[in-house]
Amino acid sequence: MTNILVTGGAGYIGSHACKALRAAGYIPVTYDNLSTGWEDAVKFGPFEKGDLTDRARLDQVFAAYQPVAIMHFAALSQVGESMREPGLYWHNNVAGSLTLLQAAVQAGCKDIVFSSTCATYGDQDNVVLNEDSKQYPINAYGASKRAIEDMLRDFEVAYGLNHVVFRYFNVAGADPDGEVGEFHQPETHLIPLMLDAIDGKRDALTIFGTDYDTPDGTCIRDYVHVMDLVDAHVLGVKWLEEGKGSRVFNLGTGSGFSVREVIDHSGAVTNRDVPVVEGPRRPGDCTKLVSGSTRAKAELGWCPKRSHLDQMIADAWRWHQAGHYNK
Ligand code: UFG
Repeated sequence: MTNILVTGGAGYIGSHACKALRAAGYIPVTYDNLSTGWEDAVKFGPFEKGDLTDRARLDQVFAAYQPVAIMHFAALSQVGESMREPGLYWHNNVAGSLTLLQAAVQAGCKDIVFSSTCATYGDQDNVVLNEDSKQYPINAYGASKRAIEDMLRDFEVAYGLNHVVFRYFNVAGADPDGEVGEFHQPETHLIPLMLDAIDGKRDALTIFGTDYDTPDGTCIRDYVHVMDLVDAHVLGVKWLEEGKGSRVFNLGTGSGFSVREVIDHSGAVTNRDVPVVEGPRRPGDCTKLVSGSTRAKAELGWCPKRSHLDQMIADAWRWHQAGHYNK
């Protein structure tokens, strides 16, 4: 079987990707420093602990497994934190990715699937974003991911390292089999925080800003089920295997939901009250991020099956009630 190096394979999206890769006949080799991931989440292939900035360790892992491709998830990904501590993002995300790409080139690995973000687009007056939209990130997280996209373009020209870049919108839900799920510590994402509030694990969910220029005043996001998202990644590996060359794809559904709408759906799905308080805006948040999703469907044949808001909340709720990890 074929090895794929999965950086960040112990994290939320990376662990689901490992499951999808295994099901598709690949061996996912997780490379993760466990700063935000969980060793318990590595269930579908070997685990190699290591940091992205550790070139010697990366060289060792490339030599041991000779992966044909990389799925590069490992990154810091909190918008708020990136505004308070941008250096962390430039170091871990940008310098770490540079080290990874240099190791890949030396090892002769020619294909990489990279997790980018709609946060690279920034705030663009309520337009639906497609892959050719301009990228004006308004937070250091988005800026760090845009810089890595630039790096990938240069490495393609210079060294023939082919990339598929996926710009994620808001990933939610969990593996319906309950083998892996979302578990961040600290948690910052809307749906898991809301489930904590519903469950009494926190007092209330704070709505970050009610004065945005949207119909109900709260931010709008395009939510994608993690299982659908990782399906696209397997298609991305196959795309590169088939020699189709470098390409950027948005992974969103084309539909947006406001924070208040997500709250209403969560109350309905769980059949519980959602304790909510209204708070100020969170620095770095965009008003609306909604994807045009035609390219991934037309070219990759991506076919999202579970990305309905109620389904995502129901799958997240099931995991929330049953699942967790230990270091
Ligand atoms: N929100 C709240 N209260 C909370 C948490 C979030 O109101 O307690 C709001 C946010 O302000 C935002 C929406 O819910 O409007 C979604 O917030 P998340 O933190 O769940 O997600 P983000 O949109 O900030 O970030 C996510 C991913 C990033 C990605 C980004 C693009 O975590 O990796 O989408 O904006 F880049």
